[in-house]
Amino acid sequence: VISILNIYFTNNNECLIGLFRVEFTNVNCTSFDRDFCNFEYCHLKSVNRSYKYLSIKVNLYEVPVNNFKINLTPLLRLNGYKPFLYNVTVDGCKFLKNPKSYPVSSYLFNVFGSFTNINHTCPIDHDLILDKLSAQFVNHQLTAVLPVPEGKYALQTSWFANNTIRATVTAFVTLS
Ligand SMILES: *[C@@H]1O[C@H](CO)[C@@H](O)[C@H](O)[C@H]1NC(C)=O
Ligand SMILES: *[C@@H]1O[C@H](CO)[C@@H](O)[C@H](O)[C@H]1NC(C)=O
Ligand SMILES: *[C@@H]1O[C@H](CO)[C@@H](O)[C@H](O)[C@H]1NC(C)=O
Ligand SMILES: *[C@@H]1O[C@H](CO)[C@@H](O)[C@H](O)[C@H]1NC(C)=O
Ligand SMILES: *[C@@H]1O[C@H](CO)[C@@H](O)[C@H](O)[C@H]1NC(C)=O
Repeated sequence: VISILNIYFTNNNECLIGLFRVEFTNVNCTSFDRDFCNFEYCHLKSVNRSYKYLSIKVNLYEVPVNNFKINLTPLLRLNGYKPFLYNVTVDGCKFLKNPKSYPVSSYLFNVFGSFTNINHTCPIDHDLILDKLSAQFVNHQLTAVLPVPEGKYALQTSWFANNTIRATVTAFVTLS
């Protein structure tokens, strides 16, 4: 995956820009541990035909968090949504401390990181916010680099604290 991303970054950037349009279709935020976290909101909002955004706020009840992991699994819809391309788990605190040593996660974090308030190293001692991430922004970041066929996808993210799953956030998109 790293080498594919690198090739597309360095050589094929322009070739793929504009091939696909990303459209958010749905989002599913689920807490598995209401004593640990709860979604204050989690929604897609359409401002008009061309401007739709995703906003999420997670209340954390057991801060500070010093140990968390995120599993990222893209899903492709064939007969139901099936894992596609990769399945990676990243240690969140190590990543935030040294993003450069995690090129793929860095790449993904750059797609939406600037829309979050996770802009510092551990501990995480506050509620988490993703504020108005728009499909247009994701379009500019993603379509340039991902060598995937058009279709219906989801990005499933599973959030672990102290190695226990606490929540999943799944964003559904179409690439057309
Ligand atoms: C949302 O995701 C959770 C956890 O993966 C799952 O159990 C639930 O069925 C999903 N809800 C819907 C409406 O798909
Ligand atoms: C959609 O809404 C955004 C944000 O308010 C605005 O900048 C944009 O011009 C609007 N687009 C159309 C086609 O109305
Ligand atoms: C990702 O891999 C882990 C470890 O092999 C596995 O437990 C998990 O079920 C996988 N996730 C998906 C969505 O397939
Ligand atoms: C992190 O983001 C918050 C909210 O956007 C901002 O107030 C804060 O100054 C940022 N901190 C750093 C270190 O960039
Ligand atoms: C995680 O483990 C640390 C160290 O054992 C503990 O202090 C903390 O309360 C735990 N946090 C959660 C959310 O389980």
